[in-house]
Amino acid sequence: MPKPFYITTPLYYVNDKPHIGHAYTNILCDTFSRFHRFIGDKVFFLTGTDEHGEKIDKTAKQKGMETQAFVDGMVPRFKELWKILDIHSDGFIRTTDLFHKKAVQEILQKLYDSGDIYAGSYKGLYCTPCESFWTSSQLAGGKCPDCKREVQEITEENYFFRLSKYQDWLIHYIQEHPDFVRPAMRKNEILGFLKAPLEDLCISRPRARLSWGINIPFAPNHVVYVWFDALSNYISAIGYPGKMNEFQELWPADLHMVGKDILRQHTVYWPIMLKALGLEMPKTVFAHGWWTMEGAKVSKSTGNVVDPAELAQKYGRDTLRYFLLREVNLGMDGAYSEELLVARFNRDLANDLGNLVLRSTSMLERYFGGKIQIASAKNSELRQQAFRSRDGMISAMKNLDPRSALSSIWELITRANRYVEETKPWILAKENKMEELATVLTELLEAVRYTGILLAPFLPEASSKICSSFAVLNPGAKDLETWGALTPSTTIAKGAALFPRSS
Ligand code: MSP
Repeated sequence: MPKPFYITTPLYYVNDKPHIGHAYTNILCDTFSRFHRFIGDKVFFLTGTDEHGEKIDKTAKQKGMETQAFVDGMVPRFKELWKILDIHSDGFIRTTDLFHKKAVQEILQKLYDSGDIYAGSYKGLYCTPCESFWTSSQLAGGKCPDCKREVQEITEENYFFRLSKYQDWLIHYIQEHPDFVRPAMRKNEILGFLKAPLEDLCISRPRARLSWGINIPFAPNHVVYVWFDALSNYISAIGYPGKMNEFQELWPADLHMVGKDILRQHTVYWPIMLKALGLEMPKTVFAHGWWTMEGAKVSKSTGNVVDPAELAQKYGRDTLRYFLLREVNLGMDGAYSEELLVARFNRDLANDLGNLVLRSTSMLERYFGGKIQIASAKNSELRQQAFRSRDGMISAMKNLDPRSALSSIWELITRANRYVEETKPWILAKENKMEELATVLTELLEAVRYTGILLAPFLPEASSKICSSFAVLNPGAKDLETWGALTPSTTIAKGAALFPRSS
């Protein structure tokens, strides 16, 4: 039995409600997990929330709330958004889950026992009012870049993780496994970073400064650094270390999808943590780009956030998915604007796809009462295009390229629309060439059926509407093996408009 495809999103910080950047990562992973189910794989899709650390503790305090109560109140906002966007994960982990905290403590203890974590002292420039450490190059005129006050050099007892010991191993691993860090430009970026000596990572925070974190079993005065805690989720969520049988069924992960801003944590800290624990490496860490507005990253701190729930309500969740998947090459940044989204909606969804489905089902109803008259041709041009689109979609998705996958599907949609223009069924009807008309409409509706199936991983709602007209349940690659599923006994109901234009 092949191992299930294990795919993860980053865990989202819960200090604010999710925006379009967060929706993007989850939509990508949802699409990949639907795709793998589509081709017959078993899938485990994991997402969740990152709830410890200074940022979250501070936000809760500013709101005058207990931190636990604050995070408990934020998590449902993420879950609700995933529901609104039709995102189905198989697991949802919170870093405040008891099993996760226990797993992190066991990981820490293991690495302490093996000597990969050691006690040392941390020296840095600290701004007391902002509770932040700065490096000398980050200072503004020798002062705190945030509040412009004096900083002090302080020394703290802390615990360190021996990244340096594994630097040479990591460089070789990345070089020898071209699929480990993708896209290639990110692999080069990380190999460039690894040219300088790697410093050991400070993985503790003194309780005196931060108490909102997981206790370190061998250091009662410290809690663990939030990234060490959060990265461990990818193994704790599937059973490490308590349920090793379940864990072995899923590990290693096939795909960690992350944003480019958290590449270093996932391609330096994380692989070294795994190596030190004696675990296998994930197959691929893929860093996607950012959505920007007027050149700036969409983010709470820039104040240019876009609410994905509002967009989904206004234009439909399939429209939002389509826009995000189609507008940019995975890995590159994308400029977000509502005008671009509306343009995609009008051109690709309402015109190309919506019209194709509506006019072909309407013509079948008008001329033949919705009944297919004859079987489809064995070797028509539409059939050849359909097979090309299927193969193109599948190989693009295996290559982590949803944009090209959608282009392949649109080649079939465009070809089918052109077929209508070329064959002019309304003229055939006028001239009473009913046999020819029956052939044309069968070919056309077969192309529509095929399109509806192909779209399942990308536009789940539209796909299921199309597929239900053709009585296709749980569409998958198995339904794309033959051209000619339509027979004279098939009746196809005229569907409602798939993408009605908003005013
Ligand atoms: N909590 C960490 C991740 C820990 S994973 C073990 C974190 N959280 S985050 O909420 O700040 O970001 C989560 C993801 O959202 C990141 O992959 C980030 O790249 C992505 N995005 C946040 N803003 C974004 C855009 N404007 N555009 C695209 N994705 C961006 O980092």
